[in-house]
Amino acid sequence: MSSYRIAVAARKGGVGKTTIACGIASVLASKKLRVLVIDLDPQSNAAFILGGDPTQPGTATLLSGQSPQPLAIDDYLAVLPGGPELMNHAIQQLHPEELADAVASFTYDALVFDCPPGNEHLERLALLAATSVLVVTDAHPLALLGAERVLEELMRNQQKKRKGAARWALVQSRIDSRRTMDREFEQALAENFPNIERLRVRQDTQLSLAGADRTPIMTYDPKSRGATDLIAVAEWGIDEQTEE
Ligand SMILES: Nc1ncnc2c1ncn2[C@@H]1O[C@H](COP(=O)(O)OP(=O)(O)OP(=O)(O)O)[C@@H](O)[C@H]1O
Ligand SMILES: [Mg+2]
Repeated sequence: MSSYRIAVAARKGGVGKTTIACGIASVLASKKLRVLVIDLDPQSNAAFILGGDPTQPGTATLLSGQSPQPLAIDDYLAVLPGGPELMNHAIQQLHPEELADAVASFTYDALVFDCPPGNEHLERLALLAATSVLVVTDAHPLALLGAERVLEELMRNQQKKRKGAARWALVQSRIDSRRTMDREFEQALAENFPNIERLRVRQDTQLSLAGADRTPIMTYDPKSRGATDLIAVAEWGIDEQTEE
């Protein structure tokens, strides 16, 4: 069983899930933890931005009961690509605990699940396979709505004593403190979610350039603002002491 299993979810698209998932994976790998990114997105962006071939067999193959070979990015980091097969009927009909079962025998130090936008079923597989969840939102009201839906599902799972994550944090993504909207948003989150840990990833061009260059952020620019923020987010992911 892999020690840390961290899902990155938002329900909403384009808020920075994949950047955060691949970023924390890069941070953990730089700490010499053996990390596997499990891409649950039919777009397969995680494999792409990490520099892997997004068309190789990956998560869909795993979910159909086989054992695809993860793509090695470096000595410590590997990825199972997503892909359009994740939309296949058979996968959309799977029992929500199937992914948790499929990864139970993995011996990586950490698994990072990159959830897709919009697809609640694929996201649910990750929420039940993870021990910790990073719920991502940017300052847009629709993003907050998506994050609230994920939080509701996490709380419902916990109340019903289902498998899955026991702890979660909100990540404010693409924060630019020069923007009034972002400053007000940070304040509103603090007031509305006083009991949920809040983390932040600031807007940083280096993060998007690293993605475009298909290089993990800790290789591309480990001293960038984005890397600094992702180090703190990754540390929350492996600090199970913060559990209440
Ligand atoms: N903190 C950031 N600073 C600058 N650019 C960012 C940041 N986070 C994400 N981006 C950029 O925003 C775009 C969307 O980010 P990303 O793909 O991580 O979002 P996503 O939530 O995974 O999207 P999708 O819902 O399509 O999967 C990308 O071009 C990425 O490089
Ligand atoms: Mg994504």
